[in-house]
Amino acid sequence: MDLIDKLYKLKKERNAVILAHYYQDNSIQDIADFLGDSLALAQKAKQTDADVILFCGVRFMAETAKILNPTKIVLMPDLNAGCSLADSAPADKFEKWIHTYPDNVVISYINCSTEVKAMSDIICTSSNAEKIINSVPDDKQICFAPDKHLGSYIIKKTGRDMVLWDGTCQVHIIFSELEVINLMNKHPEALLIAHPECPDNILQYADFVGSTTALLNYSINSDAKEFIVATEPGIIHQMEKKVFDKKFYPIPNLDGCSCNECPHMKLNTLEKMVAALENMQPEIFIPEELRLKAIRPLERMLELS
Ligand code: 13P
Ligand code: SF4
Repeated sequence: MDLIDKLYKLKKERNAVILAHYYQDNSIQDIADFLGDSLALAQKAKQTDADVILFCGVRFMAETAKILNPTKIVLMPDLNAGCSLADSAPADKFEKWIHTYPDNVVISYINCSTEVKAMSDIICTSSNAEKIINSVPDDKQICFAPDKHLGSYIIKKTGRDMVLWDGTCQVHIIFSELEVINLMNKHPEALLIAHPECPDNILQYADFVGSTTALLNYSINSDAKEFIVATEPGIIHQMEKKVFDKKFYPIPNLDGCSCNECPHMKLNTLEKMVAALENMQPEIFIPEELRLKAIRPLERMLELS
């Protein structure tokens, strides 16, 4: 049987919903029930009445789904789909770090482990970080982890002085500034749209900065016809599907290759999705005590979003 037919059949039998991030392979994007950024995927996972969530993204996203909706079976096509930001903040080091600043409010980017979430006061994503930081009273100091570039960007936007964890996204830190300048010279009418995980040497050229969903919406609603896209190129598939008369240019990385895909996101395949629904694994499990600690800062984020 054709792989796609098999997937639809299994999806129906298992009463499963397929949630996918925009950085997934085009073939996965095309069969997903719902596509979104980290915030929208968390909200969708919390609301779904399906019995099974097949999460096509990375592990912190699937864990977030399980934390928010624990009675569902949450499957991932490949459990090894991690994230360099989450890996940059091991729980023991993070615990020592926050104890150095006992009076600070601890805000963690959703790209972190469940253990780190459990030690945080509020979680944020790239689409609500500014709002979340602004919700903290002015007299409170803030620790922000793990993305130092998102942190620096938010410091500029809010004027808040935050202590930053030294983590980065391996995909967004390797865009070549020289190639950005070359693309801007080659396409002078193009607007540069960027994800806030990019370092400042890239963000300084951006006409618009936002989460993956925000970048997609901006490219749809803007009058501009050409865009230089400073984020993982998977999102360009949706941009091209939504608007036929616009052009999108990915930015080459430091090796001059326009192939700076997220290696973790790209571990998921249609074959692995079929196998996951067939075998009902790999499944996400979170100890209940840990889940109850991790849900508090996530619920706080959802209330504030
Ligand atoms: P978004 O929340 O903007 O989709 O970002 C998630 C991510 O991992 C970006 O690298
Ligand atoms: Fe993590 Fe970067 Fe991949 Fe996003 S693109 S999942 S931040 S490694």
